Amino acid sequence: MAKKRSVWLCQTCALELPAFENPCRNCGTWGSLVETIKEPPRTARSAPRAGTVGSGSSPRPLRAAAADRAERLPLGIAELDRVLGGGAVPGSIVLLGGEPGIGKSTLLLQAAAGVAAAGGRVLYATGEESAAQIADRADRLGLMSGPAAEAVEILAEHDAELIGEAARAGRPALLIVDSIQTATVDALDGVAGSVGQVRESAAVLAAAARETGAATILVGHVTKEGSIAGPKTLEHLVDAVITLDGDRHGTLRTLRAAKNRFGSTEELGLLEMGEHGLEGIDDPGRAFLEERSGGAPGAIVAPLLEGSRPLLVEVQALVASAAFGSPRRTGRGLDTARLALLVAVLGRRAGIAIGDRDVYANLVGGIELDEPALDLPLALALASSQSDRPIPRGVVAVGEVGLLGELRPVAGLARRLREAARHGFTVAIVPTPRRGAPAEPAPEGLRVIAVATLREAINAALEAAPQR
Ligand code: TYD
Ligand code: MG
Repeated sequence: MAKKRSVWLCQTCALELPAFENPCRNCGTWGSLVETIKEPPRTARSAPRAGTVGSGSSPRPLRAAAADRAERLPLGIAELDRVLGGGAVPGSIVLLGGEPGIGKSTLLLQAAAGVAAAGGRVLYATGEESAAQIADRADRLGLMSGPAAEAVEILAEHDAELIGEAARAGRPALLIVDSIQTATVDALDGVAGSVGQVRESAAVLAAAARETGAATILVGHVTKEGSIAGPKTLEHLVDAVITLDGDRHGTLRTLRAAKNRFGSTEELGLLEMGEHGLEGIDDPGRAFLEERSGGAPGAIVAPLLEGSRPLLVEVQALVASAAFGSPRRTGRGLDTARLALLVAVLGRRAGIAIGDRDVYANLVGGIELDEPALDLPLALALASSQSDRPIPRGVVAVGEVGLLGELRPVAGLARRLREAARHGFTVAIVPTPRRGAPAEPAPEGLRVIAVATLREAINAALEAAPQR
Protein backbone atom coordinates (compact mmCIF):
# COMPACT_ATOMS: atom_id res chain seq x y z
CA MET A 1 0.00 0.00 0.00
CA ALA A 2 1.30 3.35 -1.01
CA LYS A 3 2.17 5.67 1.80
CA LYS A 4 0.35 8.96 1.49
CA ARG A 5 3.41 11.14 1.76
CA SER A 6 4.97 10.29 -1.56
CA VAL A 7 4.13 11.07 -5.15
CA TRP A 8 5.71 10.10 -8.45
CA LEU A 9 7.19 13.06 -10.20
CA CYS A 10 8.17 13.07 -13.87
CA GLN A 11 11.75 14.35 -14.14
CA THR A 12 11.05 15.62 -17.66
CA CYS A 13 7.68 17.38 -17.56
CA ALA A 14 7.14 17.62 -13.77
CA LEU A 15 3.77 15.82 -13.93
CA GLU A 16 2.75 14.49 -10.51
CA LEU A 17 1.14 11.05 -10.32
CA PRO A 18 -0.01 8.91 -7.38
CA ALA A 19 1.66 5.73 -8.66
CA PHE A 20 4.45 4.61 -10.96
CA GLU A 21 3.72 4.60 -14.67
CA ASN A 22 5.88 3.93 -17.68
CA PRO A 23 6.16 5.89 -19.91
CA CYS A 24 4.97 9.19 -18.47
CA ARG A 25 1.38 9.70 -19.69
CA ASN A 26 1.98 13.38 -20.33
CA CYS A 27 5.32 13.61 -22.12
CA GLY A 28 5.89 9.97 -23.04
CA THR A 29 9.39 9.74 -21.54
CA TRP A 30 10.35 6.26 -20.39
CA GLY A 31 11.54 5.69 -16.84
CA SER A 32 11.25 9.35 -15.92
CA LEU A 33 8.98 9.01 -12.88
CA VAL A 34 10.78 9.29 -9.55
CA GLU A 35 9.18 8.73 -6.19
CA THR A 36 9.41 11.95 -4.22
CA ILE A 37 8.31 13.10 -0.79
CA LYS A 38 5.37 15.45 -1.21
CA GLU A 39 6.16 17.73 1.67
CA PRO A 40 9.77 17.44 2.68
CA PRO A 41 10.07 17.11 6.46
CA ARG A 42 10.80 20.43 8.07
CA THR A 43 14.27 20.41 9.42
CA ALA A 44 15.28 22.85 12.10
CA ARG A 45 17.26 25.69 10.64
CA SER A 46 20.48 26.46 12.39
CA ALA A 47 23.05 29.15 11.88
CA PRO A 48 24.88 28.58 8.61
CA ARG A 49 28.23 26.90 8.99
CA ALA A 50 31.44 28.03 7.45
CA GLY A 51 31.50 27.09 3.82
CA THR A 52 27.79 26.39 3.60
CA VAL A 53 24.76 28.37 2.63
CA GLY A 54 21.63 28.69 4.70
CA SER A 55 18.82 31.09 5.44
CA GLY A 56 19.26 33.47 8.31
CA SER A 57 22.61 34.76 7.15
CA SER A 58 23.05 38.47 6.70
CA PRO A 59 25.46 40.40 4.48
CA ARG A 60 28.94 40.79 5.92
CA PRO A 61 32.15 42.38 4.69
CA LEU A 62 34.52 40.08 2.81
CA ARG A 63 37.05 40.45 5.60
CA ALA A 64 34.63 38.96 8.12
CA ALA A 65 33.68 36.21 5.70
CA ALA A 66 37.34 35.34 5.25
CA ALA A 67 37.65 34.69 8.98
CA ASP A 68 35.33 31.70 8.85
CA ARG A 69 36.80 30.38 5.65
CA ALA A 70 36.35 26.77 6.43
CA GLU A 71 38.85 25.27 8.75
CA ARG A 72 39.53 21.88 7.29
CA LEU A 73 39.33 18.47 8.82
CA PRO A 74 42.41 16.55 7.68
CA LEU A 75 41.58 12.92 7.02
CA GLY A 76 45.15 11.80 7.51
CA ILE A 77 45.52 10.40 3.99
CA ALA A 78 47.60 12.97 2.14
CA GLU A 79 46.39 11.96 -1.32
CA LEU A 80 42.72 12.18 -0.33
CA ASP A 81 43.21 15.43 1.55
CA ARG A 82 44.89 17.01 -1.45
CA VAL A 83 42.14 16.00 -3.88
CA LEU A 84 39.56 17.43 -1.46
CA GLY A 85 41.49 20.71 -1.43
CA GLY A 86 43.29 20.34 1.90
CA GLY A 87 41.03 18.07 3.94
CA ALA A 88 37.27 17.78 4.32
CA VAL A 89 35.17 20.85 5.08
CA PRO A 90 33.07 20.61 8.26
CA GLY A 91 29.35 20.58 7.45
CA SER A 92 29.95 19.73 3.81
CA ILE A 93 28.91 16.61 1.98
CA VAL A 94 31.15 14.61 -0.34
CA LEU A 95 30.17 11.78 -2.63
CA LEU A 96 32.87 9.13 -3.04
CA GLY A 97 32.15 7.06 -6.14
CA GLY A 98 33.83 3.96 -7.47
CA GLU A 99 33.19 0.48 -8.78
CA PRO A 100 32.38 -2.24 -6.27
CA GLY A 101 35.56 -3.75 -4.82
CA ILE A 102 37.82 -0.87 -5.79
CA GLY A 103 38.53 0.09 -2.15
CA LYS A 104 36.03 2.78 -1.10
CA SER A 105 35.23 1.22 2.27
CA THR A 106 38.91 0.61 2.89
CA LEU A 107 39.81 4.20 2.10
CA LEU A 108 37.09 5.60 4.33
CA LEU A 109 37.92 3.34 7.25
CA GLN A 110 41.49 4.59 6.96
CA ALA A 111 40.19 8.16 6.84
CA ALA A 112 38.12 7.42 9.96
CA ALA A 113 41.29 6.24 11.68
CA GLY A 114 43.09 9.37 10.49
CA VAL A 115 40.49 11.58 12.13
CA ALA A 116 40.57 9.43 15.28
CA ALA A 117 44.36 9.75 15.43
CA ALA A 118 43.98 13.52 15.49
CA GLY A 119 41.53 13.30 18.39
CA GLY A 120 38.25 13.49 16.44
CA ARG A 121 35.25 11.19 16.67
CA VAL A 122 33.74 9.38 13.71
CA LEU A 123 30.35 7.85 12.98
CA TYR A 124 30.54 5.15 10.34
CA ALA A 125 27.04 4.14 9.21
CA THR A 126 26.99 0.93 7.24
CA GLY A 127 24.17 -0.57 5.24
CA GLU A 128 26.47 -2.73 3.14
CA GLU A 129 28.38 -4.76 5.65
CA SER A 130 27.79 -5.79 9.24
CA ALA A 131 29.60 -4.03 12.09
CA ALA A 132 31.61 -7.22 12.59
CA GLN A 133 32.82 -7.18 8.98
CA ILE A 134 34.02 -3.64 9.41
CA ALA A 135 35.78 -4.58 12.61
CA ASP A 136 37.50 -7.37 10.65
CA ARG A 137 38.68 -4.89 8.09
CA ALA A 138 39.90 -2.52 10.81
CA ASP A 139 41.85 -5.42 12.27
CA ARG A 140 43.41 -6.21 8.92
CA LEU A 141 44.37 -2.57 8.56
CA GLY A 142 46.02 -2.66 11.97
CA LEU A 143 43.68 -0.06 13.43
CA MET A 144 42.38 -1.98 16.42
CA SER A 145 45.34 -1.10 18.63
CA GLY A 146 45.05 2.63 17.88
CA PRO A 147 42.63 5.38 18.89
CA ALA A 148 40.18 4.32 16.13
CA ALA A 149 39.10 1.33 18.22
CA GLU A 150 37.34 3.73 20.62
CA ALA A 151 36.81 6.89 18.61
CA VAL A 152 35.16 5.32 15.56
CA GLU A 153 31.58 4.21 16.13
CA ILE A 154 29.89 1.79 13.78
CA LEU A 155 26.16 2.05 13.15
CA ALA A 156 24.55 -0.69 11.07
CA GLU A 157 21.53 1.24 9.78
CA HIS A 158 19.68 1.93 6.53
CA ASP A 159 17.35 4.65 7.69
CA ALA A 160 18.79 8.04 6.76
CA GLU A 161 16.71 9.83 9.42
CA LEU A 162 18.09 7.54 12.13
CA ILE A 163 21.63 8.03 10.86
CA GLY A 164 21.01 11.78 11.02
CA GLU A 165 19.66 11.42 14.59
CA ALA A 166 22.75 9.50 15.63
CA ALA A 167 24.93 12.26 14.19
CA ARG A 168 22.95 14.91 16.08
CA ALA A 169 23.34 12.94 19.29
CA GLY A 170 27.00 12.05 18.88
CA ARG A 171 28.32 15.14 17.05
CA PRO A 172 31.10 13.35 15.18
CA ALA A 173 33.73 15.32 13.28
CA LEU A 174 33.35 12.89 10.39
CA LEU A 175 30.20 11.06 9.28
CA ILE A 176 30.58 8.22 6.78
CA VAL A 177 27.58 6.63 5.08
CA ASP A 178 28.46 3.41 3.27
CA SER A 179 26.58 3.44 0.96
CA ILE A 180 23.97 5.91 -0.25
CA GLN A 181 22.45 3.10 -2.33
CA THR A 182 21.51 1.22 0.83
CA ALA A 183 20.09 4.29 2.61
CA THR A 184 16.33 4.78 2.73
CA VAL A 185 13.77 7.18 4.09
CA ASP A 186 10.63 5.81 5.64
CA ALA A 187 8.22 8.03 3.72
CA LEU A 188 8.99 6.41 0.37
CA ASP A 189 7.95 2.96 -0.82
CA GLY A 190 10.67 2.60 -3.40
CA VAL A 191 13.40 0.06 -2.81
CA ALA A 192 16.83 1.11 -1.57
CA GLY A 193 18.92 2.34 -4.47
CA SER A 194 15.99 3.76 -6.44
CA VAL A 195 16.45 7.33 -7.60
CA GLY A 196 13.84 8.66 -5.17
CA GLN A 197 15.36 6.89 -2.16
CA VAL A 198 18.90 7.87 -3.01
CA ARG A 199 17.96 11.48 -3.52
CA GLU A 200 15.79 11.90 -0.42
CA SER A 201 18.30 10.04 1.75
CA ALA A 202 21.08 12.30 0.54
CA ALA A 203 18.93 15.35 1.29
CA VAL A 204 18.26 14.12 4.83
CA LEU A 205 21.96 13.40 5.39
CA ALA A 206 23.00 16.75 3.93
CA ALA A 207 20.68 18.47 6.40
CA ALA A 208 22.24 16.50 9.24
CA ALA A 209 25.71 17.45 8.01
CA ARG A 210 24.81 21.14 7.96
CA GLU A 211 23.25 21.05 11.38
CA THR A 212 25.96 19.10 13.13
CA GLY A 213 28.92 20.46 11.24
CA ALA A 214 30.10 16.92 10.57
CA ALA A 215 32.17 16.53 7.43
CA THR A 216 30.07 13.91 5.66
CA ILE A 217 31.14 11.39 3.05
CA LEU A 218 28.62 9.27 1.16
CA VAL A 219 29.77 6.18 -0.71
CA GLY A 220 28.18 5.76 -4.13
CA HIS A 221 28.65 2.68 -6.27
CA VAL A 222 29.41 3.30 -9.86
CA THR A 223 27.75 1.11 -12.45
CA LYS A 224 29.52 -0.52 -15.38
CA GLU A 225 28.50 2.42 -17.57
CA GLY A 226 30.46 4.63 -15.24
CA SER A 227 27.75 6.73 -13.68
CA ILE A 228 27.06 6.77 -9.99
CA ALA A 229 24.10 4.45 -9.83
CA GLY A 230 20.70 6.04 -9.65
CA PRO A 231 21.18 9.69 -9.40
CA LYS A 232 22.66 12.34 -11.57
CA THR A 233 20.54 14.53 -9.33
CA LEU A 234 22.79 13.64 -6.41
CA GLU A 235 25.67 15.52 -7.93
CA HIS A 236 23.83 18.79 -7.47
CA LEU A 237 23.10 18.02 -3.87
CA VAL A 238 26.66 17.40 -2.75
CA ASP A 239 29.61 19.76 -2.43
CA ALA A 240 32.16 17.49 -4.03
CA VAL A 241 32.20 14.33 -6.11
CA ILE A 242 35.37 12.28 -5.80
CA THR A 243 35.96 9.07 -7.71
CA LEU A 244 38.25 6.23 -6.82
CA ASP A 245 39.39 4.44 -9.94
CA GLY A 246 41.79 1.80 -11.04
CA ASP A 247 42.27 -1.54 -12.63
CA ARG A 248 40.86 -3.98 -10.12
CA HIS A 249 43.50 -6.55 -11.04
CA GLY A 250 46.30 -4.07 -10.46
CA THR A 251 47.24 -2.25 -7.28
CA LEU A 252 47.20 1.35 -8.50
CA ARG A 253 44.25 3.55 -7.54
CA THR A 254 43.60 7.12 -8.59
CA LEU A 255 41.47 9.74 -6.84
CA ARG A 256 40.00 12.63 -8.78
CA ALA A 257 37.40 15.29 -8.12
CA ALA A 258 34.67 15.56 -10.77
CA LYS A 259 33.21 18.48 -8.85
CA ASN A 260 34.63 20.36 -5.90
CA ARG A 261 33.09 23.42 -4.36
CA PHE A 262 36.01 23.77 -1.98
CA GLY A 263 38.98 23.05 -4.17
CA SER A 264 40.37 22.39 -7.59
CA THR A 265 39.21 19.56 -9.81
CA GLU A 266 42.64 19.30 -11.35
CA GLU A 267 44.41 17.39 -8.62
CA LEU A 268 45.14 13.71 -8.95
CA GLY A 269 45.61 11.43 -5.97
CA LEU A 270 47.69 8.29 -6.40
CA LEU A 271 47.40 5.34 -4.07
CA GLU A 272 48.47 1.76 -3.98
CA MET A 273 46.35 -1.07 -2.57
CA GLY A 274 48.50 -3.32 -0.45
CA GLU A 275 48.33 -5.81 2.39
CA HIS A 276 47.46 -3.05 4.82
CA GLY A 277 45.07 -1.00 2.80
CA LEU A 278 45.67 1.99 0.59
CA GLU A 279 48.93 3.86 0.77
CA GLY A 280 49.95 7.08 -0.93
CA ILE A 281 52.56 6.75 -3.64
CA ASP A 282 55.66 8.63 -2.49
CA ASP A 283 57.28 9.37 -5.79
CA PRO A 284 54.55 9.56 -8.41
CA GLY A 285 57.04 10.72 -11.02
CA ARG A 286 58.45 7.23 -10.89
CA ALA A 287 55.38 5.17 -10.16
CA PHE A 288 54.70 4.24 -13.74
CA LEU A 289 58.25 3.61 -14.81
CA GLU A 290 58.66 0.49 -12.73
CA GLU A 291 56.90 -1.82 -15.12
CA ARG A 292 58.72 -0.31 -18.06
CA SER A 293 59.59 -2.34 -21.08
CA GLY A 294 63.20 -2.55 -22.21
CA GLY A 295 63.64 -0.50 -25.34
CA ALA A 296 61.32 -2.43 -27.65
CA PRO A 297 59.90 -0.67 -30.72
CA GLY A 298 56.64 1.16 -29.95
CA ALA A 299 57.42 2.62 -26.54
CA ILE A 300 58.41 6.04 -25.23
CA VAL A 301 58.10 7.88 -21.93
CA ALA A 302 55.97 11.02 -21.70
CA PRO A 303 56.45 13.67 -18.99
CA LEU A 304 52.81 14.55 -18.28
CA LEU A 305 51.19 16.92 -15.82
CA GLU A 306 48.18 16.03 -13.76
CA GLY A 307 47.05 19.01 -11.75
CA SER A 308 50.20 20.29 -10.18
CA ARG A 309 52.16 17.08 -10.32
CA PRO A 310 54.42 15.77 -13.04
CA LEU A 311 54.08 12.09 -13.95
CA LEU A 312 56.37 10.09 -16.16
CA VAL A 313 54.27 7.54 -18.01
CA GLU A 314 55.28 5.04 -20.65
CA VAL A 315 53.16 5.14 -23.79
CA GLN A 316 53.03 1.92 -25.82
CA ALA A 317 51.72 1.34 -29.30
CA LEU A 318 51.40 -1.65 -31.56
CA VAL A 319 50.72 -1.42 -35.26
CA ALA A 320 49.70 -4.73 -36.81
CA SER A 321 48.22 -5.86 -40.10
CA ALA A 322 44.44 -5.83 -40.02
CA ALA A 323 42.76 -9.20 -40.41
CA PHE A 324 39.57 -8.18 -42.19
CA GLY A 325 36.95 -5.50 -42.14
CA SER A 326 37.73 -2.04 -40.95
CA PRO A 327 41.00 -1.70 -39.05
CA ARG A 328 40.85 -1.40 -35.26
CA ARG A 329 41.72 1.60 -33.13
CA THR A 330 42.01 0.44 -29.57
CA GLY A 331 43.28 2.62 -26.74
CA ARG A 332 43.57 1.92 -23.01
CA GLY A 333 43.99 4.83 -20.65
CA LEU A 334 43.86 7.36 -23.46
CA ASP A 335 41.39 8.98 -25.83
CA THR A 336 40.62 6.72 -28.81
CA ALA A 337 39.33 9.60 -30.95
CA ARG A 338 42.70 11.30 -30.47
CA LEU A 339 44.41 8.06 -31.47
CA ALA A 340 42.41 7.87 -34.71
CA LEU A 341 43.26 11.47 -35.47
CA LEU A 342 46.98 10.89 -34.94
CA VAL A 343 46.87 7.88 -37.25
CA ALA A 344 45.41 10.14 -39.95
CA VAL A 345 47.95 12.92 -39.39
CA LEU A 346 50.85 10.44 -39.41
CA GLY A 347 49.66 9.12 -42.78
CA ARG A 348 49.09 12.47 -44.45
CA ARG A 349 51.79 14.64 -42.91
CA ALA A 350 54.61 12.39 -41.81
CA GLY A 351 54.74 9.58 -44.35
CA ILE A 352 53.78 6.90 -41.81
CA ALA A 353 50.89 5.18 -43.60
CA ILE A 354 49.11 3.04 -41.02
CA GLY A 355 45.50 3.92 -41.86
CA ASP A 356 44.69 0.41 -43.05
CA ARG A 357 46.38 -1.36 -40.14
CA ASP A 358 45.18 -2.32 -36.66
CA VAL A 359 46.42 0.12 -34.07
CA TYR A 360 46.59 -0.47 -30.33
CA ALA A 361 47.88 1.98 -27.76
CA ASN A 362 47.97 2.13 -24.01
CA LEU A 363 49.44 3.84 -20.97
CA VAL A 364 51.46 1.52 -18.78
CA GLY A 365 50.34 1.08 -15.18
CA GLY A 366 46.58 1.24 -15.66
CA ILE A 367 46.30 5.01 -15.39
CA GLU A 368 43.86 7.07 -17.47
CA LEU A 369 45.00 10.45 -18.72
CA ASP A 370 43.69 12.93 -21.20
CA GLU A 371 46.19 15.64 -22.01
CA PRO A 372 46.93 17.19 -25.42
CA ALA A 373 50.62 16.89 -24.47
CA LEU A 374 50.24 13.14 -24.94
CA ASP A 375 49.84 13.56 -28.73
CA LEU A 376 53.51 13.64 -29.64
CA PRO A 377 54.67 10.69 -27.53
CA LEU A 378 51.73 8.68 -28.81
CA ALA A 379 52.51 9.54 -32.44
CA LEU A 380 56.17 8.67 -31.88
CA ALA A 381 55.26 5.32 -30.31
CA LEU A 382 53.11 4.55 -33.37
CA ALA A 383 55.89 5.56 -35.76
CA SER A 384 58.39 3.48 -33.81
CA SER A 385 56.17 0.40 -33.90
CA GLN A 386 55.42 0.79 -37.59
CA SER A 387 59.07 1.18 -38.54
CA ASP A 388 60.12 -1.48 -36.04
CA ARG A 389 62.84 0.79 -34.70
CA PRO A 390 63.09 1.37 -30.96
CA ILE A 391 63.28 4.84 -29.50
CA PRO A 392 66.35 4.89 -27.21
CA ARG A 393 65.51 4.43 -23.53
CA GLY A 394 66.73 7.80 -22.35
CA VAL A 395 64.33 9.76 -24.56
CA VAL A 396 61.13 11.52 -23.49
CA ALA A 397 58.77 13.50 -25.70
CA VAL A 398 55.86 15.83 -25.10
CA GLY A 399 53.73 18.09 -27.30
CA GLU A 400 50.40 18.67 -28.95
CA VAL A 401 50.05 17.69 -32.62
CA GLY A 402 47.98 19.83 -35.00
CA LEU A 403 46.07 18.62 -38.05
CA LEU A 404 48.82 19.89 -40.34
CA GLY A 405 51.45 17.86 -38.54
CA GLU A 406 52.73 20.93 -36.73
CA LEU A 407 53.69 20.77 -33.07
CA ARG A 408 52.26 23.09 -30.45
CA PRO A 409 53.87 24.03 -27.15
CA VAL A 410 52.40 22.64 -23.94
CA ALA A 411 51.90 24.24 -20.54
CA GLY A 412 54.37 23.62 -17.74
CA LEU A 413 57.23 22.46 -19.95
CA ALA A 414 59.97 23.41 -17.49
CA ARG A 415 58.34 21.38 -14.73
CA ARG A 416 57.97 18.35 -17.00
CA LEU A 417 61.58 18.52 -18.11
CA ARG A 418 62.91 18.88 -14.57
CA GLU A 419 61.06 15.72 -13.59
CA ALA A 420 62.45 13.84 -16.60
CA ALA A 421 66.00 14.96 -15.78
CA ARG A 422 65.53 14.00 -12.14
CA HIS A 423 64.78 10.45 -13.23
CA GLY A 424 67.83 10.16 -15.45
CA PHE A 425 66.38 10.85 -18.89
CA THR A 426 68.92 12.43 -21.21
CA VAL A 427 67.02 13.63 -24.29
CA ALA A 428 63.71 15.48 -24.54
CA ILE A 429 61.91 16.10 -27.82
CA VAL A 430 59.63 19.11 -27.46
CA PRO A 431 57.75 21.59 -29.69
CA THR A 432 59.57 24.77 -30.74
CA PRO A 433 58.55 27.50 -28.29
CA ARG A 434 56.21 30.24 -29.51
CA ARG A 435 58.00 33.18 -31.02
CA GLY A 436 58.87 35.66 -28.33
CA ALA A 437 58.44 33.13 -25.50
CA PRO A 438 61.31 33.30 -23.02
CA ALA A 439 63.90 30.57 -23.57
CA GLU A 440 63.88 28.11 -20.69
CA PRO A 441 67.29 26.80 -19.70
CA ALA A 442 67.41 23.00 -20.05
CA PRO A 443 67.77 21.12 -16.78
CA GLU A 444 71.21 19.67 -16.18
CA GLY A 445 71.89 16.36 -17.94
CA LEU A 446 69.00 16.76 -20.38
CA ARG A 447 69.51 17.63 -24.03
CA VAL A 448 66.39 19.41 -25.30
CA ILE A 449 65.61 19.00 -28.99
CA ALA A 450 63.01 21.54 -30.14
CA VAL A 451 61.21 20.63 -33.36
CA ALA A 452 58.45 22.30 -35.36
CA THR A 453 56.80 19.32 -37.06
CA LEU A 454 55.85 15.75 -36.43
CA ARG A 455 58.14 14.61 -39.22
CA GLU A 456 61.16 16.26 -37.60
CA ALA A 457 60.19 14.80 -34.24
CA ILE A 458 60.09 11.28 -35.69
CA ASN A 459 63.54 11.71 -37.22
CA ALA A 460 64.90 13.03 -33.94
CA ALA A 461 63.35 10.23 -31.88
CA LEU A 462 64.49 7.36 -34.03
CA GLU A 463 67.98 8.75 -34.40
CA ALA A 464 68.47 10.24 -30.96
CA ALA A 465 71.40 8.61 -29.29
CA PRO A 466 71.12 9.27 -25.59
CA GLN A 467 74.40 10.51 -24.21
CA ARG A 468 75.06 8.53 -21.08
P1 TYD B 1 36.61 -2.49 -0.38
O1 TYD B 1 37.11 -1.34 0.42
O2 TYD B 1 35.69 -3.44 0.30
O3 TYD B 1 35.94 -1.99 -1.74
P2 TYD B 1 34.56 -1.21 -1.98
O4 TYD B 1 34.11 -0.67 -0.68
O5 TYD B 1 34.91 -0.14 -2.97
O6 TYD B 1 33.60 -2.18 -2.56
O7 TYD B 1 37.94 -3.21 -0.89
C1 TYD B 1 37.84 -4.33 -1.67
C2 TYD B 1 39.15 -4.95 -2.05
O8 TYD B 1 40.31 -4.44 -1.45
C3 TYD B 1 39.07 -6.40 -1.70
O9 TYD B 1 39.15 -7.12 -2.91
C4 TYD B 1 40.24 -6.68 -0.84
C5 TYD B 1 41.16 -5.53 -1.07
N1 TYD B 1 41.95 -5.16 0.10
C6 TYD B 1 43.33 -5.23 0.04
O10 TYD B 1 43.92 -5.61 -0.97
N2 TYD B 1 44.05 -4.87 1.15
C7 TYD B 1 43.47 -4.44 2.28
O11 TYD B 1 44.17 -4.12 3.26
C8 TYD B 1 42.03 -4.38 2.33
C9 TYD B 1 41.32 -3.95 3.58
C10 TYD B 1 41.31 -4.75 1.22
MG1 MG C 1 32.38 -1.18 0.38
